[in-house]
Amino acid sequence: METQLPILCYHQGKIMPLADAKIGILTHAMSYGTGCFEGIRAYYNADHGQLYIFRAREHFERFHQSARILMIDVKLDPDALVKMTIDLLSQSNLHTDAYIRPMAYKTDEAIGVRLHNLKDDIYIACLPFGNYIDVDRALNVGVSSWKRVDDNMIPARGKITGSYVNSAFAKSEAQMNNFDEAIMLDNDGHVSEGSAENLFMLRNGIAYTPPVTSNILEGITRQTIMTLLREDLNIPVVERVIDRTELYVCDELILCGTGAQIAPVGTVDHRPVGNGGIGKVGHSLQNLYFDVVRGKVAKYSNWCTPVHVEARQPLTIG
Ligand SMILES: Cc1ncc(COP(=O)(O)O)c(C=O)c1O
Repeated sequence: METQLPILCYHQGKIMPLADAKIGILTHAMSYGTGCFEGIRAYYNADHGQLYIFRAREHFERFHQSARILMIDVKLDPDALVKMTIDLLSQSNLHTDAYIRPMAYKTDEAIGVRLHNLKDDIYIACLPFGNYIDVDRALNVGVSSWKRVDDNMIPARGKITGSYVNSAFAKSEAQMNNFDEAIMLDNDGHVSEGSAENLFMLRNGIAYTPPVTSNILEGITRQTIMTLLREDLNIPVVERVIDRTELYVCDELILCGTGAQIAPVGTVDHRPVGNGGIGKVGHSLQNLYFDVVRGKVAKYSNWCTPVHVEARQPLTIG
């Protein structure tokens, strides 16, 4: 059931219709990229009549971490931000998959590039949302000519608006060269991440992922996958530096992120990964992940925050 109510957002300290939330054209964050944000999904489970926000608390903890890097003071703590998001989704009466976009940013309409002595604000916007990347087929990816921003340039562990120009260069280059997605290397030439995804490589029964010091965003889905691989699929996970050509010889390659969800890769730089389709581990992970995010796996129910008070029901599997 699609909502008839206006979609609501939190902006300038108030809840208001999303359509009414506006900022001035000289806003500092607009001019200089001085904002940080989150991308959070909520999944609707029709059997439960419930919308579940996935790993809400972890996203808002990272939101605070990004804001701290940018010298932005977010007045609401992570628990209050989760509560505000529940209120927005619930009052918008959303009964469909949704995307939540919190932003903390420098609001001054001022000329002058800096981080200090500026006013901050936050907004939280919610909107209905489907797949960001095709998850029904294996992706064709290419290693980008654009390098990932280094920690001493724009720290990738902060989800900073300005750094997404780096991702946008890589994504457009990839798509204009007929790839689905880009893999970016760091300045040392080691594998970092996709334009908006972390990655896992399977070699001889072990899953490898670049460490948090490889200029990656410290992904929440990455954390989720590490747990699911270890606890449910009995696959050891190792965080270590990955070479570009390891991607050419690995058994499976999987991109993951809130937007991309679980996106197995079929080719890298035109070379097939495994048999070029969705591999065994990628397939199992997709099935498990989509059950987990929709609140169907009891042992991970603490990752799923229910939105609609009247629909809270017992979980079913596991
Ligand atoms: C650059 C980048 N890396 C990785 C990710 C995956 O992070 P998460 O799983 O927390 O969404 C994202 C997505 O938000 C991203 O933008």
